[in-house]
Amino acid sequence: MHKTITGFSKLSKSQKIDWIVDTYFKNNDDAKIILKQYWNSNEKLQQLHDEFIENTITNYYLPFGVAPNFLINGKIYTIPMAIEESSVVAAASKAAKFWLDRGGFKAKVISTTKIGQVHFTYDGETKELITAFNELSQKFYDDTSTITKSMKKRGGGILDIEFKNKTKELDNYYQLHATFETIDAMGANFINSCLEQFATTLKTYAETNLSGNLNIIMSILSNYVPNCLVRAEVSCKVEELTENDGISPQSFAEKFIQAVKIAEIEPYRAVTHNKGIMNGIDAVVLATGNDFRAIEAGIHAYASRSGQYRSLTQASIDKGVFKFWMEIPLALGTVGGLTSLHPLVKLALEMLDKPSAKELMKIVAVAGLAQNFAALRSLTTTGIQEGHMKMHLMNILNQFKATPEEKEQLISHFKTNAVNHSAVVETLEALRRVKHQ
Ligand code: MEV
Repeated sequence: MHKTITGFSKLSKSQKIDWIVDTYFKNNDDAKIILKQYWNSNEKLQQLHDEFIENTITNYYLPFGVAPNFLINGKIYTIPMAIEESSVVAAASKAAKFWLDRGGFKAKVISTTKIGQVHFTYDGETKELITAFNELSQKFYDDTSTITKSMKKRGGGILDIEFKNKTKELDNYYQLHATFETIDAMGANFINSCLEQFATTLKTYAETNLSGNLNIIMSILSNYVPNCLVRAEVSCKVEELTENDGISPQSFAEKFIQAVKIAEIEPYRAVTHNKGIMNGIDAVVLATGNDFRAIEAGIHAYASRSGQYRSLTQASIDKGVFKFWMEIPLALGTVGGLTSLHPLVKLALEMLDKPSAKELMKIVAVAGLAQNFAALRSLTTTGIQEGHMKMHLMNILNQFKATPEEKEQLISHFKTNAVNHSAVVETLEALRRVKHQ
């Protein structure tokens, strides 16, 4: 069977599955059954999901969990999280509860602007381009007025357009570097539409007014949003840092701060430290229908802004007060995209009291900070394996198709015994042997 095919996208969903099964699974019906058992019996709902992307053959489920008891700026939230990694939701809930008793989280949005660029080359004189840019400065706004009309009504739009000469870094390379406010929309479509219009306006002008060749390379928003920034913070008196596996509050605070400092100066640690933060961030971003790849790219770039990849969080003790905080860029939307299409996304946003994009920025940042607090708290006290392996136990039990009865017995056994893969398998086998005797 050939593994290439033309016209695949034109096949029906069942025909696509048939081709996959014929080509990769030797016509094995099991593959077909697995693919089809994830179809939703509600045809309308299934069609909705089918149409999110091209060539859909089935659905891919992730657990959708919630972490309750998040006190943020005096308001209680139950935070929805879509994530496959065991212990992330448990850790978030634990951190939420810990800070609920200590004043909760404070969060504030520092800035909300986004960037888009038209990248182009010009082989004539730079001064001609400067004249062109000055002559077009109003026309860029006029030509995009139909695109910006409703965004302007909501208080957003194009804030600024700059001309940038980048020829020192790359021959003949220039930019239109534009700043946007997109209010509650993530804004990718809005920004990209404006940019493509800027490019057309510029190209049209160039054809009749410039002596050299102007070539539009591309027009695209930037996912680097260092001016769409949110800050999340917790603080309490050091003596309130109790319940840390017998470690005194002062030692805990000092060890915790040392752990943050290590992530500040050591990139190998910083990446894992920040990955833990992203466990919280991505889970909420995904549950609320936002683009986690854009968020990831933007945040990691921000973590490298000094020229070295560093911790996103910081911690201090000042006059007996422990403070732990983070500032991160987050370009999020609560309107547009999946937010009004995906029923679970709608539900997630409703659970969060239909937040504005700014409110969602705060909630997501808090989820990231909470996750990092939980991770560092475990790492600097008991270690993470104890908690992780307890959660992992369930995965192993499911892998070996443990019955509810077996699960109960093994969970009870591993309350006092260290969990590892072979210990779980051996205990389960021993239990099954006893049963069959
Ligand atoms: C695991 O998903 C995340 C952690 O490794 C984060 C960290 O080390 O800080 C626990």
